[in-house]
Amino acid sequence: MIDEYGRGIDYIRISVTDRCNLRCVYCMPKEGVDFLPHSKILTYEEIIRLCKCFAALGIHKVKITGGEPLVRKDLPYLIKQIKEIPGIENVTITTNGILLVEQIEDLVNAGVDSMNISLDTLDREQFREVTRFDLLDKVVAGLKEALKYPDLTVKINCVPICQKNEEEAVLSMVALAKDTNVHVRFIELMPIGLGKELSGYTEDSIKNMIEQRYGKLTLYRKTLGNGPCSYYSLEGFQGKIGFISAMSHKFCDTCNRVRLTSDGCLKNCLQYSVGTDLKQRMEQGISDEELREVIQSSIMKKPKAHQFGEIEEPDNNEVSLEERRMSQIGG
Ligand code: 5AD
Ligand code: SF4
Repeated sequence: MIDEYGRGIDYIRISVTDRCNLRCVYCMPKEGVDFLPHSKILTYEEIIRLCKCFAALGIHKVKITGGEPLVRKDLPYLIKQIKEIPGIENVTITTNGILLVEQIEDLVNAGVDSMNISLDTLDREQFREVTRFDLLDKVVAGLKEALKYPDLTVKINCVPICQKNEEEAVLSMVALAKDTNVHVRFIELMPIGLGKELSGYTEDSIKNMIEQRYGKLTLYRKTLGNGPCSYYSLEGFQGKIGFISAMSHKFCDTCNRVRLTSDGCLKNCLQYSVGTDLKQRMEQGISDEELREVIQSSIMKKPKAHQFGEIEEPDNNEVSLEERRMSQIGG
């Protein structure tokens, strides 16, 4: 699908739950949060129905996210069903890795093509501080397990936070890409939810740290994924180093994605609260044809760009900014 600004939309991120087994400081408050009741969450049948509509409209790539997607029961079943939809070429998942050891085999058998594991630090104490759980070993074990499958692309998502991940912590994340074929991506913290109260490192500051220790970063021109990550090679490293920098290197003009929240809202941009309630329409008995029309006209309204860091509120009153957390929207 081509949107109003000529962008080809071929990728959807689907949040299958707003629940999570961690409480990362930039995402969820320590005291916990009110999760959606099960009745408000899309059923697997609804998600599969929607995926058939998305595929018919030219969306070929699906990312399963959360909250933490692996806390939802029978996720491999959902992945297998989505993979079988004609027109869907690629199904990937973003996970915090806590439940990977138990589930990786079923996920791979279900046909998952690639896996992003969120891991901000390899230091046990820092991990506990950032996620509020002493579970680093579980994630590392999950990562090792994932690396046993040669056809599975494994990427690490690291959101370095100032005062929490010091230089050495960032550099030890880079080192993961040296001897294993895992791509390490640094994500700039976005001012969403609790992220507003913290500050992250910029792409340029991380690049500086890396080049001082490991030598020159060379831009890698081939594509490695579906999204806005720019990848670099380091001499002697098997994996690539990536940067996703929504703040310092805005990539809205090539944005190819839309999002489906766990309660069935189709969202065009992370920053805006507007969305189209597809669950409600399905509960009201909408036909597939009408559903495709609703999706298409919703995507046509995809905003031109985010305005993070530029203004407090957008300058017209028609749109309002997202107040929800990443775990509610789908990271
Ligand atoms: N800014 C940037 N990344 C974030 N994530 C969660 N909240 C934020 C934020 N405010 C990341 C997680 C995970 C991915 C799904 O989103 O760390 O890697
Ligand atoms: Fe869970 Fe991901 Fe949010 Fe951390 S960032 S609390 S792992 S949903």
